[in-house]
Amino acid sequence: MKKLNGLKKIKTAVFISGQGTNLNSLIKFSKNKNSPIVIVKVISDNIKSYGLNYAEKYNIDKKIFNFKNKTLAEKKVLKLLQINKISLICLAGFMKILSKKFIKSFKGKVINIHPSLLPKYKGLNTHERVIKNNEKYSGCTVHYVSEKLDSGKVIMQKKVKVLKNDTVYSLKKRILKNEHRLYPAAIKKIYN
Ligand code: GRF
Repeated sequence: MKKLNGLKKIKTAVFISGQGTNLNSLIKFSKNKNSPIVIVKVISDNIKSYGLNYAEKYNIDKKIFNFKNKTLAEKKVLKLLQINKISLICLAGFMKILSKKFIKSFKGKVINIHPSLLPKYKGLNTHERVIKNNEKYSGCTVHYVSEKLDSGKVIMQKKVKVLKNDTVYSLKKRILKNEHRLYPAAIKKIYN
């Protein structure tokens, strides 16, 4: 385990697929003196993921895995995580569903951020559905990953008001800003 400022930091891997703005906020958070985590690996299933640039910028080792053969990819990822003594996985816009076997072998150590107030609006296209249903509120949730999609125990949530003129884009943008604060806060809650 890495020792910083006399504290043992939790070795963390962040899994991404896309733009990686949550990864960016987690990296910044991890640089704080009082952060309980240190990010040692960034894992992506997509070579074109913009988020990989953040790994590069902050000199964090990044690895890309082809999930076409999911069983094989997971096997390789698991090995990498074990070798590097990773004890927390943060899913941050990771678009592949991890197998039950994988989640079991990392039980209680995989967390995710989802752009809705779970248990409402599990799955994809949350903002579209929220707007279509004229919801007054939406938000974001950090939760433990269980074997059922978007169904594990909630760690923290942030409620966000849906405005009258909101589009999918404007709502997504506002919720994303909140996500960037919520993910670090949820990690603090777990370890402090
Ligand atoms: C976020 O809205 C997150 O809640 C969801 O996917 C999006 C990822 O955004 N799971 P980013 O790649 O972190 O910018």
